Amino acid sequence: MSTAQHPNSIVDRQVLVTGASGRVGFPIARALADSNTVYGAARLADPEDTARLEAHNITPIRVDLGRDDMTTLPDVDYVFHAGAALGREAADWRWAFEVNAQAAGRLVARYRDVTGFVYCSTGSVYAYQRDHPLREDDPPGLHLGAYSLSKIAGEAIVQFAAGQWNVPTTIIRIFSTYGPLGGAPADRLDRLLAGREIRLHPDRPNRFNPIYEDDYVALGIRALTVARVPTLVVNWAGSETVSAEEYCEYLGHLVGVPPRFVYTEAAYSPLWADVTRMHEVLGRTAVPWRDGMRRMATARHPELTDRLEDAPIPAPGFLRDA
Ligand SMILES: NC(=O)c1ccc[n+]([C@@H]2O[C@H](COP(=O)([O-])OP(=O)(O)OC[C@H]3O[C@@H](n4cnc5c(N)ncnc54)[C@H](OP(=O)(O)O)[C@@H]3O)[C@@H](O)[C@H]2O)c1
Repeated sequence: MSTAQHPNSIVDRQVLVTGASGRVGFPIARALADSNTVYGAARLADPEDTARLEAHNITPIRVDLGRDDMTTLPDVDYVFHAGAALGREAADWRWAFEVNAQAAGRLVARYRDVTGFVYCSTGSVYAYQRDHPLREDDPPGLHLGAYSLSKIAGEAIVQFAAGQWNVPTTIIRIFSTYGPLGGAPADRLDRLLAGREIRLHPDRPNRFNPIYEDDYVALGIRALTVARVPTLVVNWAGSETVSAEEYCEYLGHLVGVPPRFVYTEAAYSPLWADVTRMHEVLGRTAVPWRDGMRRMATARHPELTDRLEDAPIPAPGFLRDA
């Protein structure tokens, strides 16, 4: 399959997006809402999130996945399940299991008649492999403690439930999204601008496959359309591999602040994705990483626009040549 196509291969259908106020769910719900009826579910404690959904023709649904009854949710044709306990909320392993694993099973059971169900898992379900990019058949590991464990459990519950009720399902293992709504590259840019060091794992270069917003919208919608029985499990990442060292150097070049790297075992190991299966079933990503990084920096730091526009675009490989 070739590069990312126009996202809306789903038209005139009803779609539920959970985690619709989040970095992954929101842009996908927004794109789907151009040509579908979209329900955006989350706890929505902040009224601004509700207003943001409504402004994009997404019907907000206030639900707590860890506590509320799923049977009251509207009937739909597709479910994109991005809602999850992350960060501090996932530190309570009981809550992480409730939201990230049990609730996913309850959702599949509720939506056993849908055309396609996507469960958002994570690249952090893998044990670190020093010498090769992470493949779908590599063994599980606890990259992020209880969060990773809850997602490993979530995958198993979703595969059981989808098999039990013949629900066409795709499990996407998400690696490092980035764009106007943030992501690890945006966090590193903020550290750079604040003059703080960037902590990286001693196994240099720290390889990643960041996936820009336009691409994750396109590939997210495609994941709904290719959902199948038995469940398809696929990495979801940028087609290009780039090291954190290289993209930070590039961001530093754009904003005129050279990065300072500190290598420590306390830093997370790199998440380097094997995208062979993704290319076969979802296609390739289209946004070159330098374009994505520049667009991210421009969107998140409009005060730097002049600097970013004036910065010459260095030729590919400029770091190696320097
Ligand atoms: N972004 C990445 O790079 C990345 C990487 C790996 C995996 N993932 C996976 O992708 C999915 C989306 O992540 P994200 O980056 O978009 O996270 P995010 O920006 O933190 O968004 C999380 C979403 O889940 C909702 N949510 C959290 N707890 C909930 C609950 N108990 N009930 C209902 N909704 C709840 C949040 O809204 P409320 O707080 O309003 O409820 C929000 O809409 C997650 O499943 C995550 O594990 C993301």
